Amino acid sequence: MSASLPEFPWDTLAEAKALAAAHPDGIVDLSVGTPVDPVAPVIRRALTAAGSAPGYPTTAGTPGLRASVAAALSRRFGVTGLGAAAVLPVIGSKELIAWLPTLLGLGAPDVVAVPELAYPTYEVGARLAGAQVLRADSLTQLGPQTPALIYLNSPSNPTGRVLGVEHLRKVIGWARERGSVVASDECYLGLGWDAEAPRPLSVLHPSVCDGDHTGLLAIHSLSKSSSLAGYRAGFVAGDPELVAELLAVRKHAGMMVPTPVQAAMVAALDDDEHEDAQRERYRRRRDALLPALRAAGFRIDHSEAGLYLWATRDEPCRDSVTWLATRGILVAPGDFYGPAGARHVRVALTAADERVAAAVERLT
Ligand SMILES: Cc1ncc(COP(=O)(O)O)c(C=O)c1O
Repeated sequence: MSASLPEFPWDTLAEAKALAAAHPDGIVDLSVGTPVDPVAPVIRRALTAAGSAPGYPTTAGTPGLRASVAAALSRRFGVTGLGAAAVLPVIGSKELIAWLPTLLGLGAPDVVAVPELAYPTYEVGARLAGAQVLRADSLTQLGPQTPALIYLNSPSNPTGRVLGVEHLRKVIGWARERGSVVASDECYLGLGWDAEAPRPLSVLHPSVCDGDHTGLLAIHSLSKSSSLAGYRAGFVAGDPELVAELLAVRKHAGMMVPTPVQAAMVAALDDDEHEDAQRERYRRRRDALLPALRAAGFRIDHSEAGLYLWATRDEPCRDSVTWLATRGILVAPGDFYGPAGARHVRVALTAADERVAAAVERLT
């Protein structure tokens, strides 16, 4: 099976990592995008308080968790009309993305459309199901094909691009006419930086879907918004029929979120204060890194939202990776995310303030 999957891209960064690690003041790792800030006390307390639960968790999530998911999507993102049966916890959103085509019963004849520059797991999930992958950013690029599943990712990993309301409406309308499922990966939805750019919107927002969730799945993660990457905490919300189908298969497959993590998710979803504080940490790091990269000769494309800066010196991305690694800064080459990324690097905002300050000093 592994031979049918793409090369695990991070393995190709070993040399650059060793080079960056040799810097006398230590490496600044802006490559993977793993959260570094401590989990908020309110969440840790909830995890601990649920630590003695002896029984199996429910695959569907506790009623309290399902209610907290719906309430948080409404309060934070203006999503309306979500009932308890329209949400489902997942063991981190990567797990859901890797198995979604399989859970939906897709196979060899089916096409999964992914963005030209995309989080690699969309393709992995399609290949695990034996389905075809088509990279396309517009409906015209799809040509005559009708994908069974269309991925959207706004704000985008890796580019930070935000899709406007008209773009989202067009894709949804097109998909509805043809019976395609739209899976919208919204794990960076709360990280909009640019007041001039379109506001990041959920596909479940009434201005996008007119309050009709048919055929739509919004995928969310608490990894970045609440620094819960280590807990493995995500959820999917949308069309109740699709969610019921996912639930039915996941029950058989034992895809359950552990009880203490479900309790921690409730605490995280009910509390906006720690989430705001986390957003502001990333904003400060972005405000420091963006001008420093420009001063070092990089152009920043898109990047109006999300957790990354999409940077280029108009040279092959591996040259930029090496140039930065000689300064002790490790970033991800754009070609990890698709051929269109061959001349960009992705710079994550996920390093401690002291490390970000070190990177800024080395760049300026
Ligand atoms: C676009 C995108 N989707 C999903 C994920 C998976 O996140 P998690 O599995 O931690 O919820 C990531 C992680 O970096 C991501 O960038």
